[in-house]
Amino acid sequence: MTAIADLLEPATTKADGTATANRLHAIARGEAFTPAVHAELATERYVLEVDHFNLWYGKAQALHDISLDIPVGKVTAMIGPSGCGKSTLLRSVNRLNDLVDCVRVDGDMRINGQTIYHKAVDVIELRKRMGMVFQKSNPFPMSIYENVVYPLRIDGERNKAVLDEVCERSLRGAALWDEVKDRLHESALGMSGGQQQRLCIARAISAEPEVLLMDEPCSALDPIATNHIEDLIHELKGEYTILIVTHNMQQAARVSDYTAFMYLGRLIEYGPTATLFQKPKLRETLDYVTGRFG
Ligand SMILES: Nc1ncnc2c1ncn2[C@@H]1O[C@H](COP(=O)(O)OP(=O)(O)O)[C@@H](O)[C@H]1O
Ligand SMILES: [Mg+2]
Repeated sequence: MTAIADLLEPATTKADGTATANRLHAIARGEAFTPAVHAELATERYVLEVDHFNLWYGKAQALHDISLDIPVGKVTAMIGPSGCGKSTLLRSVNRLNDLVDCVRVDGDMRINGQTIYHKAVDVIELRKRMGMVFQKSNPFPMSIYENVVYPLRIDGERNKAVLDEVCERSLRGAALWDEVKDRLHESALGMSGGQQQRLCIARAISAEPEVLLMDEPCSALDPIATNHIEDLIHELKGEYTILIVTHNMQQAARVSDYTAFMYLGRLIEYGPTATLFQKPKLRETLDYVTGRFG
């Protein structure tokens, strides 16, 4: 236990975990909590800034004063127990929560410095700047080709050479080109589950989004398809900024540069992934990543 205690802030060094339990209870009671944000983040340039963001579903507050800056060209993972607000936060970035009745928000987010939550923001234009990949793949009932170029089609692009080029580039980017190049005009619904999810990634990157949002993109996939997606995330990094929600801590550790740990709608700790998993600042984070609760 001494080794663990050495990692902790003075206020949390009780080896029996009482301090942790007390602090988690305090959070549950609604007491203010200052997240531990590691200094390394200050050296990054951010594509997305979440700024004192709060969200309520009716009377129930799901996000509490979240401030979180997402570094450009990196993979940032959001982890935390089920129901802690990961999907809510992700869906807030492209304002998908606007579609939910009784949602109220406070605070702001910015993409490349431009406000996301202002009355004057054109939400359709805003969503074009982001790609979104969901838990369950959602190919449209059309050909592979049409799925990939869909974002350009709805934007009015008609030039076949442009569409062909985007289709190939996006499918290559999603590590799918070699598997489907001879059947681009067949239905996307005939593909395997893992291929469908990579197709959704191809569609999400076809319009070159400023940030790629992924909500548990592997949770419906078998281990081999999951490996493919994780490899793909590595390849997309740099060219794209990825914000990924996962309840799988091993996955977060494998794919991300930075990890944000959330609990009960709060950001608890945010830092370089390796540090967060091996030497977190807070006892709460250590307890979660070592499987003591959650
Ligand atoms: N559409 C909704 N209407 C009402 N409450 C919701 C809705 N979506 C999520 N919630 C609630 O918000 C909280 C956070 O949920 P969610 O963001 O889905 O968490 P996570 O993705 O971390 O599992 C939960 O208490 C959940 O019940
Ligand atoms: Mg979720």
